Formats: sequence, C-alpha cells, structure tokens
Amino acid sequence: MTPAPYVSYLSSMAILPIVQLPDAVLRQFSTPVQQVDAAILKLADNMLETMYAAPGVGLAAIQVGVPKRLIVLDTAGDNEPKKPLVVINPEIVRLGPELRSYEEGCLSIPDVRVEIERPSTVIIRYVDREGRQQQLDADGLLATAIQHEVDHLDGKLIVDFLTRLKRDIVIRKLKKISRG
Ligand code: NI
Repeated sequence: MTPAPYVSYLSSMAILPIVQLPDAVLRQFSTPVQQVDAAILKLADNMLETMYAAPGVGLAAIQVGVPKRLIVLDTAGDNEPKKPLVVINPEIVRLGPELRSYEEGCLSIPDVRVEIERPSTVIIRYVDREGRQQQLDADGLLATAIQHEVDHLDGKLIVDFLTRLKRDIVIRKLKKISRG
C-alpha cells in the first residue's frame, strides 16, 4: 500500500522477491501458523525489511511465496517513529458499522490503485511474535490495511473489487508487462 520511508534497523535482514499478479500463487489459501518458531520470526523480519524497502504499509506471507497466515504492517506516518506489527493467524472478530473509502495499492499489483469501501474499524484477534494471543482495535489506515492483508491470506486481491471488464483490462496489462 502507500509509501513509508525505508529505515534499516537490523542488518541481518534480507529483502525477498515479491510475487506479482498474474502469478497464481497469489490465489492460494494460506494455512495457519502452527508454531511461532525461529523460522517464522525470521520470515516476519525479512517481510518487514521487504515491506519497508518497497516501500509499503503491509505485506502478507503469500506475497513472498509462503502460504502461511502471517502478515506484517506499519502504518506510522512519515514523521513518526516506526511501528512494525507482526500479526500471526489473524481472525476478524468484528467489523465496524461505518465505511471508509480508500484508494488502495498492492505491492503485488504495480501501478494499479483501486478505490475500495471497507468498514472503517475492525477488531482482530491474533498471535504476536512472542506467541501470545492479542486483540487489536484498529481504525483509519490500519483498519484498511489489516482487511487488505487478511484478504491476501484468502487469495483475494484488490482487483476483485473491480467490475469484470475493468479487472480483465488490468490483468491483460500486467500479463503484457510480465512478458516484457
Ligand atoms: Ni496487497
């Protein structure tokens, strides 16, 4: 989604290649993380590094080719300190009654922005990087970003909010780009 400045805070991290549409991997359903072990934490750190470098405000594991229910987010503004958030096995507990419209982008769909109306607040339950159950009440950009990333875990993309005609145009354009 929208840019955040890139700050490298751990030199051991790696930037991973981001899977892009029309790669069918993005349509896979991601399965729950069974255990928060060193491999998952390393993946989360590398996903954060990849997201900051892109730059973006959210990234799902499937976007780096790993079909696990893991997302990373940071919706802090340009002049705010970084607020990296690792969210494992998120479950939407409640969506608020009001809607918010936002022009969303996706790191897997370059140069495409889609105006999407979603609930403006969301409550999620998830497991944090220490393996503890957490609950989070989100609003604003964070609420939008969480719903966008949870969609990725179910194989859903922002182009799915477009009419079929517009979606076909976007996908044809991306296929052309990926062929070079
Ligand atoms: Ni996305």
